[in-house]
Amino acid sequence: MEYLPIRVSTLRGDAQINFDAFVKINEKFVLYVRKGDSFEGERLTRLKGKKLKKMFIVPDEEPKYRDYLSKNIEMAFDKNSGKSVQNRVEIVQGIQQNNAEEVMENPENEQSYNAAKDAAGRFVNLLINEPEALERLAKIANVDQNIAHHGVTVSTLAVGLAKRLGISDPKVSQMITMGSLLHDLDHFQTQLNIARKTADFTPEEMTTYKSHPLAAARKVQDKKHFDQPVINIILQHEEFIDGKGFPQGLNESKLDPNSVIVGLCNCFDRMVVFEGMSRADATKKLMIDNVGKYPLGHIQQLSALLNSMK
Ligand SMILES: [Fe+2]
Ligand SMILES: [Fe+2]
Repeated sequence: MEYLPIRVSTLRGDAQINFDAFVKINEKFVLYVRKGDSFEGERLTRLKGKKLKKMFIVPDEEPKYRDYLSKNIEMAFDKNSGKSVQNRVEIVQGIQQNNAEEVMENPENEQSYNAAKDAAGRFVNLLINEPEALERLAKIANVDQNIAHHGVTVSTLAVGLAKRLGISDPKVSQMITMGSLLHDLDHFQTQLNIARKTADFTPEEMTTYKSHPLAAARKVQDKKHFDQPVINIILQHEEFIDGKGFPQGLNESKLDPNSVIVGLCNCFDRMVVFEGMSRADATKKLMIDNVGKYPLGHIQQLSALLNSMK
């Protein structure tokens, strides 16, 4: 029998699954989570702790899986669904992580890109209209140091920062969201272990690291469905306004303003997720380390956003 892969990031929320999910161990499929299980709170944290990215279902149950997915998505974005905000944001986080993984795995797939873009529009709406959702999303711990989850957190903070900086066009925030989700596409593909201090990288790893924005931009720039503002963020998210970032060493006048917003939020989430710093310490360090690298107003607004979430 052919089993069908599903992403673990799609298993979220308190709705019970009505299908069995298997893991592949030594070429054998073993029942791992069963009909009737649901994934929220502690249960979800434990599942994520397993660092499993994919599970499998039997083909007969694909319609049930699809049905579970679409019901969860509708419910998560619906303020009046009667579900708690926490439950909804856990599902939204999973939807966004799944979309990021889909596109990073297959950037040439136009359908996946467009699905991610549609969801990014709904995501922006949610964040703008429900500040509580923004705060809860930003606080979902990235326990497995997942690159796609990192993208979701960066997008959450970046949309919040953009709003504070007076960006009110939802289309701009949609591009910021897409760029944030996909900014580390090259890390996702090369599997470079970035969950360490960059000071500990070997020279070879450092070369791979330093080339990640350009390598990713090259992979997507000929794809007609990719929006230029998204490519700009992928290419420029490690640049600093003083021209001392990489890969091109562009200064502020040459940078896409969206890249500067995403770059700063990336810098914060990198400290928390990949360098193991507490949120409080990382917030303090933002101000200490980044003056000159990012506009002062951006740093102040991101600090204020983070402090409002304590
Ligand atoms: Fe990066
Ligand atoms: Fe990043």
